[in-house]
Amino acid sequence: MNKFSAVKTALFGSVMALAGSGASAAELNIYTTREPGLIQPLLDAFTAKSDVKVNTVFMKDGLAERVASEGASSPADLLMTVDFGKLVDLVEKGLTQPVESKVLSDAVPENLRDAGNNWFALSLRARVLYAAKDLDLAAFNYEDLADPKWKGKVCIRSGQHPYNTALFADYIAHHGVEATEKWLTGVKDNLARKAGGGDRDVAKDILGGICDIGIANSYYVGLMRSGKGGEDQIAWGNAIKVILPTFKDGGTQVNISGAAVAKHAPNKEQAVELLEYLVSDEAQKLYAEANFEYPVKAGAPIDPIIASFGELKVDPVPLTAIAGHRKEASELAEKVGFDN
Ligand SMILES: [Fe+2]
Repeated sequence: MNKFSAVKTALFGSVMALAGSGASAAELNIYTTREPGLIQPLLDAFTAKSDVKVNTVFMKDGLAERVASEGASSPADLLMTVDFGKLVDLVEKGLTQPVESKVLSDAVPENLRDAGNNWFALSLRARVLYAAKDLDLAAFNYEDLADPKWKGKVCIRSGQHPYNTALFADYIAHHGVEATEKWLTGVKDNLARKAGGGDRDVAKDILGGICDIGIANSYYVGLMRSGKGGEDQIAWGNAIKVILPTFKDGGTQVNISGAAVAKHAPNKEQAVELLEYLVSDEAQKLYAEANFEYPVKAGAPIDPIIASFGELKVDPVPLTAIAGHRKEASELAEKVGFDN
């Protein structure tokens, strides 16, 4: 048996195990791209409270393809993933169903859920500015990234990474395609090094004196400064200060982790019960603790490292509208040779 057929057999086995266990009423099957370690404490807390057993199938990639190929006999109840683009794709492929729940619509702001209630954000991450600690800078607009005064001073990962595609798509939502092309050209001209690496490399390269500023996700600061990302990263995290940038006519760009109930969910009632639990005060606190994310529910506690950035003012453009500009965003990044 080669490596791939071994994996296939293992996956098939887990589906059969799920299908077999679906007969019992108080069970629920989750397909998730989130690392099991991150969500397991939440699921354990839910089971302790509800007596609903939660089975998880973790897959790094191919969640939509898997659910689509299983069709009406899919054992999946809840689909959990990171990046609103993936959730929008699930809806467009007809793999989800709407959920009418006052608990969910009260907890999740309108711009952070599907207009047809097919998916809901559960936690947030912001695309923030990392800046050299000694830099005299207190506020920042995303538009400023193209200011020639930052020439040779900006670090950022690939323009084709979904984190940046979402940011560029939000820029299009605010300013249109033409202005975004001009802006991306300006940002590209300001790069200190080739666009690439990961978000944490921005902090590492600020420490190394390669760049002064850069764009990266908020939770990595928690991972670096706490040492949870590794000993050497503590110095990276401490080399930067974090500013929550905003669009001149908007707020800070966020992405989400979220979930949708699968179209053919055998245990829809339990899936909705879990979704409602995940936006409870208790679960929102666990979310924030697990991965240094922002809770989606207003007023839920935030990790002190993340809270130290100041108050997050989420950009009001609906995530669904931003998702509609992803293709243009990716094409523009290609057109201006962002990664070259
Ligand atoms: Fe990440």
